Amino acid sequence: MQLFLDTTDVAVLKDLAATGLVDGVTTNPTLIAKSGRPMLQVIAEICAAVEGPVSAEVAAMDTAGMLDEGRKLASIAPNVVVKVPLTRDGLIATREFAHEGIATNVTLCFSAAQALLAAKAGATYISPFIGRLDDYGAEGMDLIVEIRAIYDNYDFDTEILAASIRNPAHVTAAALAGADCATIPPTVFADLFKHPLTEKGLEQFMSDWAKTGQSIL
Ligand code: E4P
Repeated sequence: MQLFLDTTDVAVLKDLAATGLVDGVTTNPTLIAKSGRPMLQVIAEICAAVEGPVSAEVAAMDTAGMLDEGRKLASIAPNVVVKVPLTRDGLIATREFAHEGIATNVTLCFSAAQALLAAKAGATYISPFIGRLDDYGAEGMDLIVEIRAIYDNYDFDTEILAASIRNPAHVTAAALAGADCATIPPTVFADLFKHPLTEKGLEQFMSDWAKTGQSIL
């Protein structure tokens, strides 16, 4: 399973990427706004910091505008993935990007029917928003299960990118459900390393080791 970081904070990204465990990055207009920086510059810096796919979202609502913006974003670096909203115009643009060899991440997916259309349009990634479905009173993870079954039934190549991840349990459940990737906020990514029993066990081991008075080197 590939683990992406959902962030526009380049310093935080570099810190976590140093672990060698970050396979890519996703961004969205809200995260760009939070960064307070010019989007094209931020995306270029992120692309230089990671070798894997970097999703950069179009802001246009119509197909022609999405195509213009997407081509510009794709020209920033070879690892840019153009993020397109799951709308009728977005899927027409997705189909054209597929013909042009430009990778796409179809975002704001909330139903299996939408995911089916995205795959038929030739999306590289589909982003089902787990946390927002949970917030809405639905069982977000069920959507990953449904999309996995549909994509496997028809051998679609579109990769399932579990998005709107809120906690480590979401990551585990998405992995169990067969998601190809998950995009994770930095705080949740940092939490993936932790378990209270790891901390407690390590404390005990270190305390016992100190009693031996030994040194390994
Ligand atoms: C994914 O590509 C989105 O940027 C992100 O996962 C949305 O998460 P949110 O629902 O926490 O805003």
